Amino acid sequence: MAFVNHIAKRAFSKSATMSAIKNVTVIGSGLMGAGIAQVAAQTGHTVTMVDIDGEAVKKAEQRIKTSIQRVAKKKFGGEGPDAEKFISDAIQRLGTSTDAVASVTAADLVVEAIVENLDVKKKLFSQLDAAAPEHTIFASNTSSLPISKIAEATNRKDRFGGLHFFNPVPVMKLLEVVRIPETSQATYEAMVAWGKGMGKVTVECKDTPGFIVNRLLVPYMFEAVRLVERGDASPRDIDTAMKLGAGYPMGPFELMDYVGLDTGKFIVDGWAKAYPDNPLFQPSELINKLVSEGKLGVKSGEGFYSYKK
Ligand code: 3HC
Repeated sequence: MAFVNHIAKRAFSKSATMSAIKNVTVIGSGLMGAGIAQVAAQTGHTVTMVDIDGEAVKKAEQRIKTSIQRVAKKKFGGEGPDAEKFISDAIQRLGTSTDAVASVTAADLVVEAIVENLDVKKKLFSQLDAAAPEHTIFASNTSSLPISKIAEATNRKDRFGGLHFFNPVPVMKLLEVVRIPETSQATYEAMVAWGKGMGKVTVECKDTPGFIVNRLLVPYMFEAVRLVERGDASPRDIDTAMKLGAGYPMGPFELMDYVGLDTGKFIVDGWAKAYPDNPLFQPSELINKLVSEGKLGVKSGEGFYSYKK
């Protein structure tokens, strides 16, 4: 499979406007970054997926290859020339790089999906701000950090916002589009138009902790853990209850394992620090214990459940 390097190839289009996002740079090749890059490439954008870790990029390419085949199978009802063309066209549009700064010089949109660390994100955006063209929109896929704090590192707060996707990105239809007070109307509209072009349904939200989905989902998941901590019910029975009694596709423990216990812990620890009096944002001893034992969920082979073959 040819994951080509587009940076040298793609030329900055002077006519690029905010409403015409064509060149997209995705920084981060974890589950979210790779998913965003994949869907952007599938929907006709020229994409560069960046990670400082070359090995991580290779693993992401492999995940994308598997995922895109599943998408094509579903879209075209099996294998065949149309499915093959869909896959090869998307792969052609998807380049990779380990140099974030060089990768934004022709970008219309930069979507950041790196480690959830405010200082690291700010440092990255400040470097990108100096290298990216004037018109480039910057967005963060952060699940819990304030967009306005990240945007402080740049001189383009009017061209800054949040674009929050959901795992698995190729499947989940929602995109939360987050505005900070400085986000211009043109930027907001360009982000919404891009999201629709990605095949997503967009919802608008202010820069509030967890935006819409995580604000509801994370306290729900931690409340489920508290049921277990009190000995009221088992993870298996809670999962069964929420799937069969509330129609959720996964129970809260399956979902925590899927998202990553470390991610859940990180989100709640941050909120607990910022809002110590909010009972919905209290850390969990059981989650802390599992994370300290390296039991992070599906990605580590064990969380609340075991995924070892
Ligand atoms: N790539 C492409 N297609 C995929 C896929 C992937 N990674 N994962 C699933 N699919 C598609 C495939 O078409 C698959 O069909 P296939 O088996 O023929 O290939 C179809 O989805 C069904 O998948 P599965 O049979 O594997 O399993 P399910 O029917 O149980 O669906 C699920 C899996 C879509 C993940 C479903 O269980 C679900 O919706 N779970 C809830 C996920 C959720 O809540 N996500 C949000 C988490 S919060 C978040 O991301 C925010 C962050 O900030 C923390």
